[in-house]
Amino acid sequence: PITGEYIDGVLLPTLIKPGDVVALRQELKLRETDVFVATFPKCGTTWTQQIVKLIWSGGREDGRDVDEALPWIDVTKPHELDDMPSPRGFKTHLPYHLCPGGDPRQSPAKYIYVYRNPKDTMVSNYHFSVKFLPEDMPWSNYYKMMLSGDVYFGNIFDHMRGWYIHKDLPNVLIISYEMLKKDSFNMIKKISDFLGYQLQDDVIADITKLTSFEKMRGNELANNSWMDKYRREGAGFMRKGVIGDWKSLFSEEESIEIDEIIKEKLSDIGLVFDYDP
Ligand code: A3P
Repeated sequence: PITGEYIDGVLLPTLIKPGDVVALRQELKLRETDVFVATFPKCGTTWTQQIVKLIWSGGREDGRDVDEALPWIDVTKPHELDDMPSPRGFKTHLPYHLCPGGDPRQSPAKYIYVYRNPKDTMVSNYHFSVKFLPEDMPWSNYYKMMLSGDVYFGNIFDHMRGWYIHKDLPNVLIISYEMLKKDSFNMIKKISDFLGYQLQDDVIADITKLTSFEKMRGNELANNSWMDKYRREGAGFMRKGVIGDWKSLFSEEESIEIDEIIKEKLSDIGLVFDYDP
């Protein structure tokens, strides 16, 4: 039902052609100071972009929008960002094995992968996807579509698995939306240390405040308000920003089904999810 071309069985948004993904993978030249924020959509990409942006600037807005500071690399051409000054940051939604710039194991760049419990991620995507779906598509249909993996960037469980198994690489940091929500200060400190910026605690505290849901929602440089028109119910890109909203749409059966799929597909790698506020 949604349109787009496939690469390795992974559906791409219409903006991205399989050849572009291959070109980025082969030709993008990465630097030691490059940072990727990698996610399955709706797992906390924008939040993490804003955190990285403020770490670079020592906790002050530098006038750049999140997507200007960390552009969506997946829709660019290989040499388009050659002139971007260091440190460069990118966001990507591509799975690990298609990540721009080649295999992170052989790359000088750093990668922050953010995951979120799949139930909340699906609900957030459902509300976000109004532009790509029939407007009256009921949740239960969308849910089935998500499970089939026929959504942009493919199967959510495969996406998380593909990145998570590389959690021990020195240039990969894996965090969750829920950790970021419940322990913001320490997670921001962790990101800052990972990027090699030993910021003082008062600066980390400033960044923690500036990246709260409320602060980001009111910040034109971080709230992606230009995307509001793509949302269901006109809720805005900054919709709820909570853990546990899956309870508003999931049936008991759907919830059990997800638990079983996760047991089957992810329990062997130790990836566990947090479903409650
Ligand atoms: P909800 O739809 O559940 O509210 P992405 O940036 O990956 O597209 O993710 C968007 C989701 O992250 C939305 O989730 C959005 O509200 C939430 N979000 C964005 N900034 C946030 C913040 N500072 N704190 C908590 N959630 C945030």
